Amino acid sequence: MNSKGERTMKILMVLTSHDQLGNTGRKTGFWLEEFAAPYFVFRDAGVDLTLASPKGGQPPVDPKSDLPENQTPAMARFKQDSEAQKALSKTLKLSVMKSEDFDTIFYVGGHGPMWDLVDNPDSIALIESFYNSGKPVAAVCHSPAVFHRVMFEGVPLVKGKRVTGFTNGEEEAVHLTKVVPFLVEDELKRVGGLYEKAADWESFAIVDGRLVTGQNPASSTAAAKALITLLGEGAVTGAFAYFGGWFSTDELTPSRFADRFEEVNGVHTGFRRNHAKGLGVSGFFESNGNGVRLSKATVFEARRVQVIGRFSLDGGQPYQSDRPDTRRGLGLQFSLPHGELWRTAMISFPLFPVRTPEIFYERLLAFKSDPATGKPDPAKVKAFEERHPETVEVLKVITARPLSSGFGNTTFYGLNAFRFTNAAGKTTPVRWILEPMQPFEAASAAPPDKNYLFDELIMQIHRQPLRWRLILIVGKPGDPTSDPSIGWPADRQQVDVGVLTLNRVEAEECSAARDINFSPLMLPAGMAPSDDPVLSARSAVYAQSFTRRAGETKQPSAITPADVMKGE
Ligand code: HEM
Repeated sequence: MNSKGERTMKILMVLTSHDQLGNTGRKTGFWLEEFAAPYFVFRDAGVDLTLASPKGGQPPVDPKSDLPENQTPAMARFKQDSEAQKALSKTLKLSVMKSEDFDTIFYVGGHGPMWDLVDNPDSIALIESFYNSGKPVAAVCHSPAVFHRVMFEGVPLVKGKRVTGFTNGEEEAVHLTKVVPFLVEDELKRVGGLYEKAADWESFAIVDGRLVTGQNPASSTAAAKALITLLGEGAVTGAFAYFGGWFSTDELTPSRFADRFEEVNGVHTGFRRNHAKGLGVSGFFESNGNGVRLSKATVFEARRVQVIGRFSLDGGQPYQSDRPDTRRGLGLQFSLPHGELWRTAMISFPLFPVRTPEIFYERLLAFKSDPATGKPDPAKVKAFEERHPETVEVLKVITARPLSSGFGNTTFYGLNAFRFTNAAGKTTPVRWILEPMQPFEAASAAPPDKNYLFDELIMQIHRQPLRWRLILIVGKPGDPTSDPSIGWPADRQQVDVGVLTLNRVEAEECSAARDINFSPLMLPAGMAPSDDPVLSARSAVYAQSFTRRAGETKQPSAITPADVMKGE
């Protein structure tokens, strides 16, 4: 247990014991960055770590990985850290490890594993045992090859799953194509994996269900963080990808972010740490096929798919009074063919008020209500605005727009940019919005009913389904993708790709949406995150919020099942 009374996560990290680079007479081993970076990601997340290798004891470092040109901050930290060095020198024997003792297993890469781990019966049995018991398995660089003989339900584990690993091009670049027993990329494809890669040496990791793979040394951090996020999200299906660019500095971790929400709002057990007040909905999305030219995601093929959603109000107060100017939210989950999921959480603002996760974190505290006045401390607000005049400017644009009267006639904005890839392999930057088909009506002052927005939503859905058009906004090369506070030029092409219909409403207590984490990185094949650091931050902080609330006793929501019945 940690200081918050949460169970400590247990991770088994596996390294190679092999130090001969084929018949070259040269030395190999594990790649130091691929141990050091994940090791510190895990240790900083408070994980209980065990290290193992086929022979036990000190595993061999690939001397090449420690050359001056390959040095990284994590390696520098490792060299100063006697605890890490000691742990590495005393790895346990892989053959005595048991999946029951851990939450997941992570394979460190390097060329060494190609000789002593990829066909190692202890390793194969261990991975199968982890995976069969519902636990995630992860590997980076050459180590995704350890999955090539692993079977699940009678077929290779990687068959039909999105995977990555050291590319043929990267192997060629290090002149070892003819030395390694097989090429990781070719072998993963041969056994049926849906192999994907970023450019050589770029950071790239993929999560598909419980399988996490990273491409190369630069992907070590992304793969480790993807694994931590996955553990935080609990069992998920579908896939999502990480393109490096993790937001977190050593000072700002997902846990600290969630702590700050709690500091500002108090702890409301069982509720989301942000967008705490909400209502479940469901319905369907009918695609008109227009999106296919931008993305091969099945959601854009002309068909109907089921949708679960949740309307919410910004802020960590589950019982706050509805106000016309509070940011409105809509989280959606599209259930796609072959078990894929697409999740998106959108808001009623056309721009995100802040550029980066760090500024959002800072702003939360600056706008914390003073218990004496019920309002933020003007001095703190002023100090924040002086530090971030750009946020003041963005808010001017946001507040200049007229507010709509209710949830039903609100436009919802996805804000962050994504990368869409079509069947021909063409990638385009894309954002999306949901445009209401209910007519616009301007908001008036809040009536005394503290749930008036939600009550009206319930009445409307009981009367007739509510509908929105999903519009893709097509970016051009050079359009900024890493900053959700900057819009794209107004003349960018807009593609109407189909209609969302919401025809059922349910109190949170009764809705499947309560237990969904509307992570923006739960994406189907054909959609991938952009370089926006807010995306990885959101994914990580939502997972943290989800983990906390999932383990807590639930309290009744502001909008009760009786309120929903009243609207019938
Ligand atoms: C660094 C930036 C952000 C942070 C740290 C953050 C944090 C959070 C947290 C902690 C939750 C609760 C998650 C849960 O327990 O399931 C949440 C929910 C939500 N966020 Fe964010 N958020 C960020 C940016 C955004 C942006 C850019 C959007 C809109 C595009 C957005 C829209 C929403 C919505 C609609 C929900 C409610 C979803 C639901 O009903 O579960 N957030 N956010």
